[in-house]
Amino acid sequence: MFKIGDVQINNRVVLAPMAGVCNSAFRLTVKEFGAGLVCAEMVSDKGILFNNEKTLNMLYIDEREKPLSLQIFGGEKETLVEAAKFVDKNTNADIIDINMGCPVPKITKCDAGAKWLLDPNKIYDVVSAVVDAVEKPVTVKMRIGWDEDHIYAVENAQAVERAGGKAVAVHGRTRVQMYEGKADWNIIKQVKEAVNIPVIGNGDVQTPQDAKRMLDEIGVDGVMIGRAALGNPWMIYRTVRYLETGELIPEPSVREKIDVCILHLDRLIALKNEHIAVKEMRKHAAWYLKGVRGNARVRNAINECNTREELVNLLRQFVEEVEAKQQSDAQAV
Ligand SMILES: Cc1cc2nc3c(=O)[nH]c(=O)nc-3n(C[C@H](O)[C@H](O)[C@H](O)COP(=O)(O)O)c2cc1C
Repeated sequence: MFKIGDVQINNRVVLAPMAGVCNSAFRLTVKEFGAGLVCAEMVSDKGILFNNEKTLNMLYIDEREKPLSLQIFGGEKETLVEAAKFVDKNTNADIIDINMGCPVPKITKCDAGAKWLLDPNKIYDVVSAVVDAVEKPVTVKMRIGWDEDHIYAVENAQAVERAGGKAVAVHGRTRVQMYEGKADWNIIKQVKEAVNIPVIGNGDVQTPQDAKRMLDEIGVDGVMIGRAALGNPWMIYRTVRYLETGELIPEPSVREKIDVCILHLDRLIALKNEHIAVKEMRKHAAWYLKGVRGNARVRNAINECNTREELVNLLRQFVEEVEAKQQSDAQAV
């Protein structure tokens, strides 16, 4: 349990913000699997200010997801402040997070995302301006630095704290690393030792045991899980349970995976529409089926699906096949 400003977080497991993934449909599902805090996918400050319809739709939050952190990105103080004010007044988000970690050139060339990491003074300036403009607590999600010659994680986190930021999440990679190499947890530890606001550690938490190791060894207040939760909200549930009781509950059955995949699909259809949802769900369905024997053929077929009916039929048929095979294997033993 920890607090970000006045927002109480009931356990130490946080769903990472992931663009194209962490919309309300996925977040609510992960929340139901026990996440203490869920983070929304990054939203463009300019998209908000230009009243872009798609961007404004991204601000939708179901009350059941709360507490929720909504992340904005941008490369200029003025537009970030205005976007933050909009989020503050017009959404039911609990926390406003500023993205200082996105490594994608399209973002960094506009001075947004990880580009902020090169200058702690600029970080101080922008975070204090946002903090002054809004009522909700403001946090920053950052990488440890731009490249190995510019690792300012400690200075940057201290700048966030001095500016009135209420927490930092630190992904233990540089911008240049993108998603390659190993996340450097030691630098996350240095950050934790250097500030008094909560620090959420992130990067390469793939198992409940990894999460415990990060909490125990690095001393962070919360642990943020990204890729390991793709198509796998059980990762969140299993981690929460493991941290609470030491019990490592088994991985879900294929039937359970498919049932939750279909629940996720139906929530996505309600959020967007069938056509968009089914297309978006193709990648999620592949993630839900990751590691299941014999999934290659069905994954190819999923990529051809255009309707809910087609997708659900494929998934249900696949479960039947897997279960029949499991039964015949068991009888053969
Ligand atoms: C598909 C995808 C989308 C992401 N989008 C965002 C984003 O919108 N905002 C952000 O701060 N980080 C984003 N990230 C980074 C993650 O939040 C996280 O920092 C990173 O994946 C490392 O954590 P992990 O090892 O647990 O995956 C994204 C990562 C992935 C894989």
